[in-house]
Amino acid sequence: MTQPDLPAGKGGAVAPPDPWDPLIRITHWGVALAIVANGLINKGGSVAHVWIGWGVMALFLTRLGWGIIGPAEARFSAFPPAPRAALRHIGELLRGRPREHRSHNPAGALMIYALWACLGTVIVTGLVMTGGKSPVTIAEEKAAVAAGDWSVLVQADAEDHAGTADTAERLSKEVHDVAANLMLILALIHVGGVAVESRALRRNLVRPMVTGRRNRGVDPRA
Ligand code: HEM
Ligand code: HEM
Repeated sequence: MTQPDLPAGKGGAVAPPDPWDPLIRITHWGVALAIVANGLINKGGSVAHVWIGWGVMALFLTRLGWGIIGPAEARFSAFPPAPRAALRHIGELLRGRPREHRSHNPAGALMIYALWACLGTVIVTGLVMTGGKSPVTIAEEKAAVAAGDWSVLVQADAEDHAGTADTAERLSKEVHDVAANLMLILALIHVGGVAVESRALRRNLVRPMVTGRRNRGVDPRA
């Protein structure tokens, strides 16, 4: 599948994409902060970790819904996973002449789907490890244990040994760990990619993701 071509702006200049809408910006920075907090700062499995995990799950589900019902640039159909187009884009980048795209460029799009796949994986494995318990329940259980009431732990242990929960949890922990670390590495490459693309296009790509306003170029709708 190919990326939709951009219309030429006034004077024949190729128009940059529309600015990102508020929902994309809020979910982007919310997800980025949550990943840094859970991957690098707080303690895995802590109440704060699970609260942030549930927050990031809400942001992710909202963004996925927006990919179906949101404006044109936000839709999955505007940035389909297209490996060949991604390679072509990297070739254009190496030659210093990348084409503009209305939504994410094809190489960026592949990275975005990889990041989302890792995010989906850490969320699902996190839910498996915590047995789908809400952060409120987990906080109450931890408080009970801290107060000397071990009955919740004994009960959870009995449930674990009654079935396959133990193996599923262990496997989930491994996968959670690997996906979380891979996601941090991909995020670093993503930031590098944004810098390279901004340089090649001579346009700061970060600003539209922060302010929602593009800094240069011709409005495609003008
Ligand atoms: C932004 C998403 C997330 C990231 C980056 C992340 C990252 C991590 C990391 C790096 C660890 C440490 C693993 C280790 O001890 O070796 C961890 C542990 C853990 N995470 Fe997450 N996590 C995320 C989301 C979640 C969610 C959504 C939940 C639950 C609903 C969750 C529950 C847990 C639990 C229970 C552990 C402790 C595992 C153990 O040591 O037994 N995480 N997480
Ligand atoms: C953990 C960190 C990060 C993650 C997981 C992440 C993930 C993503 C995702 C999923 C998108 C697609 C947005 C959407 O369509 O909803 C995106 C786009 C973008 N991100 Fe990040 N991001 C991270 C950090 C950053 C940082 C630190 C910057 C800036 C320095 C940045 C700059 C951008 C820009 C400019 C775009 C739009 C690219 C374009 O113009 O096509 N990101 N990022």
